[in-house]
Amino acid sequence: MTTVKLALSFTVLVLGLILSIYNHQFVIFLNSILNKSSKTEDLLTPEELKEFNGEANPRLYLAVLGSVYDVSKGRKHYGPGETYNVFVGRDASRSFVTGKFKDAEASDDVIGLTNKELLSLDNWVKFYEKQYTKVGKVIGRYYDTNGQETQYHKQVNDLIRNALSDEEQLKLVAIEFPPCNIEWNADTGTRVWCTERSGGLERSWIGFPRKLYEPGSDSFRCACIKEEDLVLPNIQEYQDCNSNYVSCNVNTANV
Ligand code: HEM
Repeated sequence: MTTVKLALSFTVLVLGLILSIYNHQFVIFLNSILNKSSKTEDLLTPEELKEFNGEANPRLYLAVLGSVYDVSKGRKHYGPGETYNVFVGRDASRSFVTGKFKDAEASDDVIGLTNKELLSLDNWVKFYEKQYTKVGKVIGRYYDTNGQETQYHKQVNDLIRNALSDEEQLKLVAIEFPPCNIEWNADTGTRVWCTERSGGLERSWIGFPRKLYEPGSDSFRCACIKEEDLVLPNIQEYQDCNSNYVSCNVNTANV
């Protein structure tokens, strides 16, 4: 009976030990998740971010569209006195496209930028995502005190999305309607012509030089048009060009 009691106590002891080890591991596991998420999702105030401008703290942080990256390994670019020091310790998103690097000109307001500028800014975001570690978000124009995207941020996201889709459209148009080759000579004037490589786009067809009117615009450019597209309403022949020629001397400076 004593042996049974002893065996029972031993089993309970072992079970308790296993349970406490598992619990402990569970706590460690939970902690690692919590620590990880709080580390990657740090919310900084603009004042806290300013601490990372390279003066007091050796770590260098910069923010673009509200996301904060640790750019310490790029000290030669961002350190005190270096060309791109304006970017650290703050969100100077606008300076990425204006090229204005003075402290007084730094701004995180990007509304009013052109589509081209927004696309360039988007490329900077992609650059930092790839080259550096994201360490958090800065409270302000792009993130609220709960770390949620602000209306302003959503508006900027929409503008960037639209700019990207416009760019895609333009690429498609460029592939569908490649630019003509154009040359000008003082004696013979302007010549436009199409080849299988004109406009820098390799293809299996040549196309005919035509005026291509961009939608909603009075202006046109010379494009090489496939036979089946010649009937499109925004395509027009050059006055002095035989419709079957792939090369024409056109009597206009505005091609
Ligand atoms: C809007 C204008 C510009 C902006 C916003 C800009 C921004 C930057 C930034 C942020 C970096 C550091 C990238 C990193 O973390 O590795 C950089 C690097 C550099 N930039 Fe600029 N830049 C501009 C114009 C120019 C111009 C006009 C030149 C040349 C004439 C130039 C030449 C360089 C060079 C040589 C590097 C160093 C590349 C390397 O060592 O890896 N930048 N630029």
